[in-house]
Amino acid sequence: MERILDFSKTLLRPHLHDNGLYLDFTMGNGYDTLFLAQHTHSAVYAFDIQQQALDATQKLLKQHQAENVRLILDSHEHFLNYITPPFDAGIFNLGYLPGGDKSVTTKSETTLRTLELAVEALKKGGLLLLTLYPGHEEGKEESFSVEAFCRNLDGKKFDVLKYDFINKKHPPYILAIEKK
Ligand SMILES: C[S@@+](CC[C@H](N)C(=O)[O-])C[C@H]1O[C@@H](n2cnc3c(N)ncnc32)[C@H](O)[C@@H]1O
Repeated sequence: MERILDFSKTLLRPHLHDNGLYLDFTMGNGYDTLFLAQHTHSAVYAFDIQQQALDATQKLLKQHQAENVRLILDSHEHFLNYITPPFDAGIFNLGYLPGGDKSVTTKSETTLRTLELAVEALKKGGLLLLTLYPGHEEGKEESFSVEAFCRNLDGKKFDVLKYDFINKKHPPYILAIEKK
């Protein structure tokens, strides 16, 4: 079985093509941003609230000569200030920056506000991928509210998949939202 980060790429790949628009809502150290940049010739927009994340991502992109990316130091809830919808796919890898300040983490309220806008701005046939980390306190609350939001999405308009290892204690898991 694929681990969650591998499986998220398996889900994403069929959605990646040239002349699209892709968003990384939580840039972090830039690995997802790089994946998007390397698998399309499209524009990729990546958001984070920490300069440290932008610096790490810029370095990574430079090493791989990926130039089709715009790095934005702003909260993802403001993504509509930077792009013209619709977009083809987006990634949320929630939680805190690996190796960074664990107190700077995604927050349920902001994540939900962003998700509400994102499902509207997503192209028909497009995909939103979320990796959730219920193993820490803020992540537990965030997972609960994000999952409730996903369960309430109209089944005629969206398909939502959960990929979860159910015999582990609070493992990270995936929610994938596809717009019909
Ligand atoms: C788990 S990390 C992302 C890992 C990243 N996808 C990678 O490949 O390295 C989560 C990131 O979300 C960022 N973050 C937290 N709140 C945010 C917000 N409101 N808008 C954008 N990014 C945010 C954190 O600063 C952190 O860098």
